[in-house]
Amino acid sequence: MEPVQRKQRIFSGIQPTGVLTLGNYIGALRNFKLLEEEYNCVYSIVDLHAITVRQDPTALRKACFTVMSLYLAVGLDPDKSLIYFQSHVPQHAELAWVLNCFTYMGELSRMTQFKDKSQRHADNINAGLFTYPVLMAADILLYQTDLVPVGADQKQHLELARDVAERFNNLYGPVFVVPQPYIPKVGGRVMSLQDPARKMSKSDPEDTYIAMLDAPDVIRKKLRRAVTDSENCIRYDPENKPGVSNLMNILSTLTGMSYDQITLEYGSKGYGGFKNAVAEAVIEELKPIQARFKEYFADKAYLEQVMTASAQRAQAIAGRTMSKVRRRVGLAPTRL
Ligand code: TRP
Repeated sequence: MEPVQRKQRIFSGIQPTGVLTLGNYIGALRNFKLLEEEYNCVYSIVDLHAITVRQDPTALRKACFTVMSLYLAVGLDPDKSLIYFQSHVPQHAELAWVLNCFTYMGELSRMTQFKDKSQRHADNINAGLFTYPVLMAADILLYQTDLVPVGADQKQHLELARDVAERFNNLYGPVFVVPQPYIPKVGGRVMSLQDPARKMSKSDPEDTYIAMLDAPDVIRKKLRRAVTDSENCIRYDPENKPGVSNLMNILSTLTGMSYDQITLEYGSKGYGGFKNAVAEAVIEELKPIQARFKEYFADKAYLEQVMTASAQRAQAIAGRTMSKVRRRVGLAPTRL
């Protein structure tokens, strides 16, 4: 008999802060749907990470349900994937504590995101912000994750998760799968509309990003004002023409057109016509998602059903890993 191959597991966490952007959609959410067929996917809304910076409680709660509704609106299937709030599975915090005891201050001080965030939130450099990468390692390792889709900004955190997993395994035997980065096949990085050297980010000013829930007119306006160059030539050249190339990347991922096709089709229409085409493609793509979002967001009973069922299944997997960890570390066994 052929051995049954276990589907590989993918874990991804997304913070429930503010709005999700077109960058989150193209770089992450859109791929999540494709991954669902081939992998066992765990999509956690990482609310405990969110509180490492000050949050308004009402806004945070709303953002949690917004992100969950968006996950469902892009078509993720809660029967296939786990879609739940991190804080509903207590093993995340529990494993984070244990892993804190296997992570060095030196390692955490080298994290560029910590240095960056301590500058931006100089009045609130709390211990949670410092150990943020340990909670992230716990997220990943709890589910015996094989692959983690990460952008460049999270590479260092994934490296740390790997180091901690290997350190723990070397001390106690093979407890954790050591996760690998997953590099998506399509959908390059989406850059800021105003400063195409920077990644599109929801923490930058409004006019630099398109939110997944932006109205069509807002999308048109933001794209019309997107920074380009004075050459008036549509050619893919990220180094010399970062603004135009960014828009070409967006159009290409959403329509499937190649860069050559885009040049051929819009080359003679000037930047105005090209930007309109990008806007219409974005609007077209987001329209059905926004419509489904509205329905899900209004259906609290359904959202609660999804989050509860997923959290229960997540707890079962996470619980198995925690029992192993307890046993190996020497904590007394529990029947609770
Ligand atoms: N730190 C990640 C970010 O800000 C979010 C995150 C938390 C995450 N836990 C994770 C991503 C585990 C991947 C795997 O983007």
